[in-house]
Amino acid sequence: MSAARDGGTFTTSVFWATAGLWHGAGAVESHGARGLDSRAMPASFPTGLVRADLDPRRPRFVETPWGAMALYLEGEEVLCAQAFCPHLEGPLFEGSHAGGAVTCPWHCWRYDLRSGARLGPLGVPLPGFEKLKRCAVSTDAQGRIVLAEPTP
Ligand code: FES
Repeated sequence: MSAARDGGTFTTSVFWATAGLWHGAGAVESHGARGLDSRAMPASFPTGLVRADLDPRRPRFVETPWGAMALYLEGEEVLCAQAFCPHLEGPLFEGSHAGGAVTCPWHCWRYDLRSGARLGPLGVPLPGFEKLKRCAVSTDAQGRIVLAEPTP
């Protein structure tokens, strides 16, 4: 896919050109995690980021031991959800977000960042769809953002 031919953004093209390094099966190999069971995963992950590192206009991509996540600044609240869409793994973190919900740029599925539920056109949760994995967010004594193991 070329940005010049399809009108896509340069960011998206560069992203997908490099995504295979850390997303999908390649990520498991590159990080040496193959063969680890979930019991070996940490219960929390210090991001090293502080609230001032976050931009309310766009999420901050974070690679964690549990996979790619995105941090959203919603008012004073920091929310964390998986960076790629449960539908077909579109780059959810590149979608638009407002009011605690994010819309995937590929097929416009919309998710509530707090509950992880897929939302219908009226903002009502739609049953039967995979929820976004989300991490509880806290801060350490220095104000750095710490993520808890994702749910569900
Ligand atoms: S990949 Fe996100 S809605 Fe289809």
